[in-house]
Amino acid sequence: MLDLIVRRANVIHHKTPVDITCKDGKIVEIAANIEAQAIREIDAAGRLVTPPFVDSHFHMDATMSLGFPRMNISGTLFEGIEVWDELKSHLTVEKVKERALELLNWSIARGTLAIRTHVDICDPNLIAVDALLEVREEMKAYVDMQLVAFPQDGYLRSQGAVELLAKALEKGVDVIGGIPHFERTMADGTASIKALCELATKRGLLVDMHCDETDDPLSRHIETLTYEIQRLGLQGRVAASHLTSMHSMDNYYVTKLLPLMAEAQVNCVCNPHINIVVQGRQDNYPKRRGLMRVPELIESGINVSFGHDCVMDPWYPLGTHDMLEVAHVGLHCLQMTGVEQIRAMFDCITKAGAQTLCLEKYGLEPGCFADMVILQAADPVEAIRLQPTRLYVIRRGEVIAETAPLSVRVMLENKEVEVDFTRQDQPG
Ligand code: FE2
Repeated sequence: MLDLIVRRANVIHHKTPVDITCKDGKIVEIAANIEAQAIREIDAAGRLVTPPFVDSHFHMDATMSLGFPRMNISGTLFEGIEVWDELKSHLTVEKVKERALELLNWSIARGTLAIRTHVDICDPNLIAVDALLEVREEMKAYVDMQLVAFPQDGYLRSQGAVELLAKALEKGVDVIGGIPHFERTMADGTASIKALCELATKRGLLVDMHCDETDDPLSRHIETLTYEIQRLGLQGRVAASHLTSMHSMDNYYVTKLLPLMAEAQVNCVCNPHINIVVQGRQDNYPKRRGLMRVPELIESGINVSFGHDCVMDPWYPLGTHDMLEVAHVGLHCLQMTGVEQIRAMFDCITKAGAQTLCLEKYGLEPGCFADMVILQAADPVEAIRLQPTRLYVIRRGEVIAETAPLSVRVMLENKEVEVDFTRQDQPG
């Protein structure tokens, strides 16, 4: 007896609806009309069934703290950093955990079951590190959480950060972070990348740096990062987050940079919500958008995934941790409305994210974990258009979140119509 069968699922790369059978937390078979029985059956009725959404870049230590100890009145990055500094002195393990766990309920409800979160290690007590390590452990049955040791105030610039980062890794933080553009000089930025990549090589860990998160067209730490990846053989194991300077770089230089990035197999993580509200703030009109060059990166064969970055924290007052909203915002800010481009946006919040996080057994294939989301939408384009109800969120073959389908009644003078915003028929 199987544990679960999802019937009539619309799965990407299958031309017609298929059944998905699951046992012992794994997918057994995907085919049409499977004759088998399971403890539970769910009829997807031709709707889209996708592997879970992946958030490649988040800050769980600050999330849900909006308004504490005060609001970011101007909405700028710099005031956000001031508020975070004030908040840091109030952090307790209990409070950080409480907020993170609340956020994770939202994430699960939205079908996001893998999250890479940076955690600020520039705190002599490493309170957020301890809190998020406990959260990772308590929630591991439901969510794959990766923690990145993030020296927010600079690896070389902030006193004690070198030791604190090592201590965070000793405690069990998964990934090595950095912030080269925030070091005192370009040379220090370069030195930080070298040291952090060498540390990753020595410890056999992944790397994810906040890289060139600035409007400065000459901030080119990504070039150093690709060089270090080549030198140390870290291909595919390093992520460059934000890369907002790339928006403003000289076009000729970018033609040199893209092949170097492809050769280094660097994973690029774009954070559309935050990049669009934070970058270009010092500009008069026209104001730069400040997002990495996603269409060109994808065309160059470089893996690009998306992150939510912030939800209700000192930098961003909105959000429900919905990765479909991230794809929706990204599509607009990047002007990626071409047919293939919209599809690529869906990949940025699913399989490309899994590649960035180096997740194993991710996807809808026999042998993969039985993790999936059934959406009230027919296909990925409709999913991005509607950001629809996540009808079922399934982890290791068990339903861990369920939402009733949206159904709205419109009452006109002589008829009543049911509306759910999906389009049933193609226009004739
Ligand atoms: Fe970030």
